[in-house]
Amino acid sequence: MEDRTLIRAALAVRENAYAPYSRYRVGAALLDVEGRIFTGCNVENAAYPVCCCAERTALFGAVAQGSRRFSAIAVAGGPEGEAPPLSGYAYPCGVCRQALWEFGSLRVLVAKSEEDYKTYLLEELLPHGFGPEHLEG
Ligand code: THU
Repeated sequence: MEDRTLIRAALAVRENAYAPYSRYRVGAALLDVEGRIFTGCNVENAAYPVCCCAERTALFGAVAQGSRRFSAIAVAGGPEGEAPPLSGYAYPCGVCRQALWEFGSLRVLVAKSEEDYKTYLLEELLPHGFGPEHLEG
């Protein structure tokens, strides 16, 4: 699948972000090894710590659908009202990096638009992550 297809899905689901408090909207699209795309947006809450990032919304939805092996995630975020090209690259937060790490490495596409994006491997964004192997006796 082309990167731009995954980024387009992230930009599209960003429209559904529920972010009345931060007014910062994020969309994420997670691609599994079978070519399926799982999308997520940030979902905020009046009790602020309950908020969930777009990346984890996508990841947990994917796992709930039976998918656990991923090849890439596209992330696009910016202030409410902003349309692509977004003004900045929205990098996954530390918690989301760790949540993704559980399922192994993948490419991370941080996008302003379908044409303007940066690519990383998860281990570049989360060196020495804590994983399942650390719990093996
Ligand atoms: N947010 C994400 O959805 N993903 C990130 O990786 C960083 C932050 C959301 C959480 C919150 O709803 C808003 O952006 C501002 O922090």
